[in-house]
Amino acid sequence: MKILFLNGPNLNLLGQREPEIYGRTTLAEIEAKIRQRAVTIGVEVDFRQSNLEGELVAWIQQAKGKFDVIVLNAAAYTHTSIALRDAIVAVGLPVIEIHISNVHKREEFRHKSLMAPVCYGQIIGFGADSYVLALEASVNVTAASKAP
Ligand code: DQA
Repeated sequence: MKILFLNGPNLNLLGQREPEIYGRTTLAEIEAKIRQRAVTIGVEVDFRQSNLEGELVAWIQQAKGKFDVIVLNAAAYTHTSIALRDAIVAVGLPVIEIHISNVHKREEFRHKSLMAPVCYGQIIGFGADSYVLALEASVNVTAASKAP
């Protein structure tokens, strides 16, 4: 089983970016934790970040036939990107939407996710642990059914 972790804009700055909201854990540290846990549970993971919407769209498209589940923190594109949403629908893979912060406790423009209606489920507000929880959830997504 292969799981693709995709991270959107500004997540490369985790650790220094608004630590009171996102914590002090860097994206590299999150990736290391995910890779470690993946070995333990016996799944393969790929972990990527881009500040470019088009690159994220391309990665979603290319995931078809190569990955079983996508874990997506689309960051600010969550709230704006019809292109990312269309890519999710186009590939038909189960996508788990994640966020580090509880977006519903924050500004109103973060309450709306264009991804949510086309995602399998959401994990929101657990800090860096949102990634670990998504990894655990991914295994069950394929074990049970890919359809929500
Ligand atoms: C985020 C929440 C988004 O609203 C924000 O634009 C981010 C990070 C999160 O993980 O909490 O960049 O996706």
